[in-house]
This record gives sequence, C-alpha cells and structure tokens, in this order.
Amino acid sequence: MVNEARKILLDGPPVTSLDEYRARGGLQAYEKVKEMDPRDVLDILRKSGLRGRGGAGFPTYIKWQGLLESPASRKFICANGAEGEPGTFKDRWLIRHNPYQALEGLAIGSHVIGADTAFFCIKAKFEPEKAALQRALAELQRETTLADNIELVLGPDEYLYGEEKGLLEVIEGGPPAPRVYPPYIHGLFGGAYGGPRDGDNNPANVNNVETLSHVGHIIRNGPDWFRSFGTPDTPGTMIFAISGDVQTEVVRELPLGLTLREIIDGVAGGMRPGRRVKAIFPGVALSVTILAFNLLGDSLRDELDPRLRNL
Ligand SMILES: Cc1cc2nc3c(=O)[nH]c(=O)nc-3n(C[C@H](O)[C@H](O)[C@H](O)COP(=O)(O)O)c2cc1C
Repeated sequence: MVNEARKILLDGPPVTSLDEYRARGGLQAYEKVKEMDPRDVLDILRKSGLRGRGGAGFPTYIKWQGLLESPASRKFICANGAEGEPGTFKDRWLIRHNPYQALEGLAIGSHVIGADTAFFCIKAKFEPEKAALQRALAELQRETTLADNIELVLGPDEYLYGEEKGLLEVIEGGPPAPRVYPPYIHGLFGGAYGGPRDGDNNPANVNNVETLSHVGHIIRNGPDWFRSFGTPDTPGTMIFAISGDVQTEVVRELPLGLTLREIIDGVAGGMRPGRRVKAIFPGVALSVTILAFNLLGDSLRDELDPRLRNL
C-alpha cells in the first residue's frame, strides 16, 4: 500500500501569501541559517542524505561544499525551474503550490556559499509560475531581506535550457547551448565561450527547484525527520508526474523507494481498460525509455505485450 499521507513539499493547500507561509513555519530556516556557521548547515544536509531532484541524484551538500571552499571572489547560485522533460510537470506544480519554499531554499544556498546573485530560472511561457514567483518575490523583497539578491530569469522554450550549462548561457544572455566544462569551472560572467567577463571563473551552483524546496524543511525539522521518509540511500519524498495510458493522470508527492508497479497500480489506478504496459519513460535526463519488463512486479509483467516478454 502506498503511503501518500505524509508529505513535505505539497502538504496542505497551496500557499498564496507570505503570512500563510510564515504561519506554516516558513522563513524559520532562513533565520536560523543566518546565525549558523555555513559548515554546520552543510553537515545537516550531509546527514539528511538530500540528493538532487534534477535527474542525477548528486548529494546536494557536496555541490555546496565545493562552492563554499572555492577561493573565487565571485560566486553564484541558480534554481533550475526550466523543466522540459516530456510528461514532467513537477517543478511547475511545486512553484504553483508554494513558491516561497523554493525561494527560501535558494536564499539559504546563496547564504551558505556566499553568492553574489541568486538566479531563479523558469521558462517565459510558464505564466502561472511566473505570476506566483513574482508575487512571492515582491512580498519577500518588501518585508524581508531574504530575496534581496534573487533575480527571476525568464528563458526560452528549448529543452536544453534545463541542462545546467545551457542554463548559464541563457543567464548570460545567449542561446541555451551547453558548455564543455561544469558550472563550478566555467561559472557566470567569467568570459566562457565569448560571454560577458566580470571577475574570474566565478563558479556557479545549479540546483533543481525541488531540491531547493526541501532545504528549509530539513534545516527546520532536522536530518532524522527527513530520513523518516524514503530509503536509507535516498531519503525523503519526490514529486511524481504520472501520465499516459493510466486510469488517473496525477502529480503526487510520494516517499522514495516505491516500485513502478506500486506507482502505476497504487497511485494512478492501473492501466486504462484494454491497454498494456509496453514501455515506461521515467523522465530522467538522458535516460532511454525503459522496457517495463525489467522493472515491474509480477502482476504488471503479465500485462506486458507478449512480443516484449522475451527482450
Ligand atoms: C539534457 C538535459 C536536460 C536537463 N533538464 C533539466 C531540467 O529541466 N531541470 C533540472 O532541474 N535539471 C535538468 N537537468 C539536470 C541539470 O543539468 C542539473 O544537473 C540539475 O539542475 C542539478 O540540480 P540537482 O543537483 O538539484 O539535481 C538536465 C540535464 C540534461 C543533461
């Protein structure tokens, strides 16, 4: 049975004002972090086991540690909300539900690594998300110092904008063509590939919106609380967007560690009448379509198109 009751990011009704966010404990983590040694913040993230939700699952504290320890005089941090994976709506859903927690996570990251500017990157065509972020940013900038260095970037439609090096190119005003070297080597405004130059290599940290949204909750509630969700290897929850030939197309926050069968059968109500599982597109960057045969439990395996059973 899938436990959908415990949520972190999508808990409760949508958060539409800073007062509501505060009433739910918002901003407490940011206030706490401002009084802490950044290395202690990293230690909390390390103990929590938070891994990136942008595709590669890389431990967040290691990325932040690299930037914190960098001797560079200028550093940057970016929230990646460029979401373009087919069938994926999780970051947009999250921003609509609660833009404040993503902004608080970005501000905490900015504070920990000592960033000049924090860029929140979405696509210009994401109108409802743009409106939610602009409203939240205006409130935060009016009433707090949290968002003083946060800039909203409205980028192009291209899928490659979501790739972190393409994202940096867009922030610099170019098309989303990926660079060769990672953001911690070729950061922002360091003159990479003919772009604007102001400073040295200016390392940049890029994190997915969902990753950043978790940060405040972890600081406020502690790593052990976060580890009470998910698995020992990958603690926490993740937002799943399930679409295709299932009974109910949904976006849901679920604990990590579920099988695809539990998600398809238990959350999306199973396959539509007369449809069989032939393949699943897991929506992870650069992944190939996964033949369901290798991944599903017995009941769905029986549903597979017989032609695929022997692959
Ligand atoms: C082709 C391609 C597309 C990508 N698209 C996205 C995207 O839309 N959103 C995202 O957060 N990460 C995307 N990524 C991953 C980012 O490059 C980067 O690893 C991620 O934003 C890091 O965040 P995390 O450490 O919090 O997971 C993409 C990667 C590739 C190779």
